[in-house]
Amino acid sequence: MNITKIIENKKNKKILNEDEITYAVNAYVMGIISDAQMASLLMAICINGMNIEETYFLTRAMIESGDVIDLSNIPGIKVDKHSTGGVGDKTTLVVAPIVASCGVSVAKLSGRGLGHTGGTIDKLESISGFKSDLSEEEFVQQVKEIGIVDAQQTKDIVPADKKMYALRDVTGTTRSVPLIASSIMSKKIAAGADKIILDVKTGSGALITDFEESVELAKMMVQIGKMFKKETIAVITDMNEPLGCSIGNGLEVKEAIKTLEGNGEKRLTNLCLTLASYMISMGKEISLEEAKKEAIDALASKRALNKFKEFISYQGGDLNNIKEAKYSYDVCVAEEGYIRDIDETSLAMECLSMGSGRINKDDSINHGVGMIIKKHIGDYVSKGDVLVTVYYDDKKANVENILKSFMLSKTKDEEFPLIYTIIK
Ligand code: URA
Repeated sequence: MNITKIIENKKNKKILNEDEITYAVNAYVMGIISDAQMASLLMAICINGMNIEETYFLTRAMIESGDVIDLSNIPGIKVDKHSTGGVGDKTTLVVAPIVASCGVSVAKLSGRGLGHTGGTIDKLESISGFKSDLSEEEFVQQVKEIGIVDAQQTKDIVPADKKMYALRDVTGTTRSVPLIASSIMSKKIAAGADKIILDVKTGSGALITDFEESVELAKMMVQIGKMFKKETIAVITDMNEPLGCSIGNGLEVKEAIKTLEGNGEKRLTNLCLTLASYMISMGKEISLEEAKKEAIDALASKRALNKFKEFISYQGGDLNNIKEAKYSYDVCVAEEGYIRDIDETSLAMECLSMGSGRINKDDSINHGVGMIIKKHIGDYVSKGDVLVTVYYDDKKANVENILKSFMLSKTKDEEFPLIYTIIK
């Protein structure tokens, strides 16, 4: 097999066959083809795309580059969830305990934040002592014992994605429907769950901003899930404003706890209940209405909160010790009007500048810093009202940039819908 020929085929808009795709992935993992050659192929895929068969072969080759976790001796249907990434997205911390407390096992591998979007592992690591690097044996054992686990991807699970994702990140090849679909689905399938729910974010703060392209991504991932015989449902959800009230790791964990206590922000709570209902319905094979009743009851009865506490403590975390920043200040509005739009990417970049996330892959982060957003789209604000409270340690966020992130208007516009469509 000749990698130059494979690159040229994709450059010339040809459909790659199974052998070509499998060879490219294996040869890259083994170091037979160089970063330059793989980057060139990834760029050709970015520009000319891949059809569903090519994307399936790519996903399969990536899965086969490493281990697949075997959850088959755990009774019942195991369900996993994935979000394509957003600002303030702490849904996993709420959804997974709701689902597990209803008796459906959640076996989840999560990622770290990169760029302006956060990652669940970084959020969990703001809890002192929390251990996210579990062995495959520990991962399986925890699902068996308490029905819930969330750990980082081990080096043996989809090593091809680790290598390819790092290369994509520095070669401008992140935004591609087949590359995102194969990257996410290879990890979901290798994590061993039977059924998968996908939260595909769309809007200005999402990885894919365009609605039609988000639908295309969702359809491709659902189709790939089916090709691997895993029931997969995608929910296309709004990312035109931060989800909930907080951005920043420790602050988001605290907001997740508040939500589990029944005092969460409305849109965040609704999204968590929707995602949890689909997972419970898939896991118990009951109607969505019945599942929703169970999810609401799990929140109201504090069963989900107790499951969350059990899960954190099982992985060594101390909820009395969540990282916090030392200082804070309020950012107040100088005009009045209705909030028409919030530039969540710009707010996330301000958090990033205080150390909440990484600019480069190996950067260390500050788990305590971030923001609490006091006003949402549709709210009326008067001069002097607090828009945001900033939590910082050694570097402050830029007040001008924060103020510019809130767009005001004289009249109240329609709010963005929370959920656009469901793809099955
Ligand atoms: N998340 C992933 O895991 N992979 C992508 O390519 C994009 C988002």
